[in-house]
Amino acid sequence: MAQQEDVFKKIISHCKEYGFVFPSSDIYDGLGAVYDYGQNGVELKNNIKQYWWQSMVLLHENIVGIDAAIFMHPTTWKASGHVDAFNDPLIDNRDSKKRYRADVLIEEQIAKYEDKIAKEVAKAKKRFGDAFDEQQFVTTNPRVIEHAQKRDALHERYAKAMNDNDLDELKQIILDEGIVCPISGTRNWTDVRQFNLMFKTEVGSTAEGASTIYLRPETAQGIFVNYLNVQKTGRMKIPFGIAQIGKAFRNEIVARQFIFRMREFEQMEMQFFVKPGTELDWFAQWKKTRMAWHQALGFGAENYRFHDHDKLAHYANAATDIEFRMPFGFKEVEGVHSRTNFDLSQHAKYSGKKIEYFDPETNESYTPFVIETSIGVDRMFLSVMCHSYCEEKLENGETRVVLRLPAALAPIKLAVLPLVKKDGLPEKAEEIVRQLRFHFNCKYEEKDTIGKRYRRMDAIGCPYCVTIDHDTLVDNCVTLRDRDTMQQTRVPIADLQSIIEDKVSITSLLKKLI
Ligand code: GAP
Repeated sequence: MAQQEDVFKKIISHCKEYGFVFPSSDIYDGLGAVYDYGQNGVELKNNIKQYWWQSMVLLHENIVGIDAAIFMHPTTWKASGHVDAFNDPLIDNRDSKKRYRADVLIEEQIAKYEDKIAKEVAKAKKRFGDAFDEQQFVTTNPRVIEHAQKRDALHERYAKAMNDNDLDELKQIILDEGIVCPISGTRNWTDVRQFNLMFKTEVGSTAEGASTIYLRPETAQGIFVNYLNVQKTGRMKIPFGIAQIGKAFRNEIVARQFIFRMREFEQMEMQFFVKPGTELDWFAQWKKTRMAWHQALGFGAENYRFHDHDKLAHYANAATDIEFRMPFGFKEVEGVHSRTNFDLSQHAKYSGKKIEYFDPETNESYTPFVIETSIGVDRMFLSVMCHSYCEEKLENGETRVVLRLPAALAPIKLAVLPLVKKDGLPEKAEEIVRQLRFHFNCKYEEKDTIGKRYRRMDAIGCPYCVTIDHDTLVDNCVTLRDRDTMQQTRVPIADLQSIIEDKVSITSLLKKLI
């Protein structure tokens, strides 16, 4: 575990050192849980977004995109339930003055019981070797049974308190479990209070005429309020989907794990409108489709899993998370939710507008049900970085850091490197860049030795480098180096586009989906 934490720290500093992600307002020492994407980060992020967008809008005739505003009429958030219920239960420690999420403190306590069980199992495994029967051990060992009973009792009590919205009980659990503040080490806790996660601001030039509006905490509502506009102007027939990529804002209290939990982040959401009664079939279909999208990146099926929700939001009739194995455990990257007709019905009620679909085949009108797929761009970025970061021991004993990014997502596809800065080699290199830059992202680099330039390109995940040497001026061939195998081959300049273009294009990923 400690080793994994070290790797994660290295990934965070790599992101900064190589222009992927910087703390926001870095010169002022940053702003909690807010980050900026640098020159390489923005390219990678754009490629992720393009992969998602094209997989939705290009590959599905019945999915179209929109780009709704971040600011929305304040009633939107009353109708959606966010004003009343988009809350986290918070608790403060009076000694450290630090604020925590009560639910997170309790979930960490549950995880501690899990850890204790895992430690007992690991110890016994070591002791008994091949003869070890884990199933028998966990059902008979008294210490494991005791930890498991405590875990289950705590889980049950916690789930009930959350379901009942019982804040006093949450505090009592924290006290009964003897949970201490990690900073002060004391149990001097305040009461638990609900804290709404939406950021507020005001529109209007004078305070008198101003009204309170919110920064959207999810992009989905921009789609729901545009359902009628898109359905009518696009003459969309059910089933159909509306996709959107955009910023969302949440005043997260526990802001940890780098870009995993941010206050300003980006979502890629798609609402798929279906006939009532068919939603669970579509839910199963979209689970499959979205998992295939993730796995087409080639990170290994064993690094993904579904986590079906035990506790469903009151408006959902099925929900699952797609989790990815991060250095800090399996974590949610995407949610697939069957949201019934809750949102459209609520907007119909609050706006007074009829929001329905007239089915020309059956001559009936109904409020469509919705399957939502919702993925965080930043979490996806983090999962790509975590899986691609690799410290590799070379045959000559050196270590190289290489980002094994899927070529289609890499910020720069080809580095063009003159062997020396003279004899017409830079001019030849620039000529190649001028030719190829219309097809994919190229970078010209002449500083430092070729070896150092290769390492820099490995570190930003550039899949191909070409070196221009004196022979190039004679035979019009270059040395093409592959990032992963480090193999070098001599190829004609005229062939570069056809060799590289297909491998680095988003199309190469999309083709795996159909
Ligand atoms: N419209 C549904 C919705 O917003 P969610 O589970 O709250 O559902 C969907 O969020 C996705 O948005 C998550 O799976 C995650 O990838 C991303 N996300 C949510 N909160 C985030 C945060 N504070 N920072 C970064 N990404 C976040």
